[in-house]
Amino acid sequence: MPADGVELTPKPSLLSQNEIIRLADLFVSSGVDKIRLTGGEPSIRKDIEDICLQLSNLKGLKTLAMTTNGITLGKKLPKLKDCGLNALNISLDTLVPAKFEFMTRRKGHGRVMESINAAVDLGYDPVKVNCVVMRGFNDDEICDFVELTRYKPINVRFIEFMPFDGNVWNVKKLVPYSELLDKVVR
Ligand SMILES: C[S@@+](CC[C@H](N)C(=O)[O-])C[C@H]1O[C@@H](n2cnc3c(N)ncnc32)[C@H](O)[C@@H]1O
Repeated sequence: MPADGVELTPKPSLLSQNEIIRLADLFVSSGVDKIRLTGGEPSIRKDIEDICLQLSNLKGLKTLAMTTNGITLGKKLPKLKDCGLNALNISLDTLVPAKFEFMTRRKGHGRVMESINAAVDLGYDPVKVNCVVMRGFNDDEICDFVELTRYKPINVRFIEFMPFDGNVWNVKKLVPYSELLDKVVR
């Protein structure tokens, strides 16, 4: 989260539920069989359950996925699953609560962990955890993230840190794939 926060898109500029379903219907009837809800933060939309239900009823759609920050997901997940959400990516860049608060400028690390565990308990397999790797911030946690996958159906996806407005991107923060692999196999 940039220091100045982010400007929220005004509601009238967001796709309405009808527009989302209409667009999705056009794509699915043309052969698309996977839709991912992302954002912004999809789980905070008040009509997210309805959207999932309608999308999952589109004939030909096989995968309805969501990428979420996981903060408010835990409680909503059983209903979302009933509404047809069948694949889940939860973003989490650190396993250290204080670092989480520094990075996201909010509390909530425990709730994200609860969401990951709720997803496992509900039978999501795999539960994908998206971790953006930044040198000097979380590259010392690579093996702890890998450890998460030892006994649970969790896949960790290490993602290259990309420059977005205000996120203090710097080439020195990139960690090459070979270095990550080296840390894991050592
Ligand atoms: C922008 S988020 C939007 C969805 C949702 N709010 C979330 O947090 O997952 C989608 C994905 O982008 C990733 N992401 C965010 N900032 C990034 C960056 N600077 N470089 C690479 N990936 C990034 C997140 O880890 C997440 O997996």
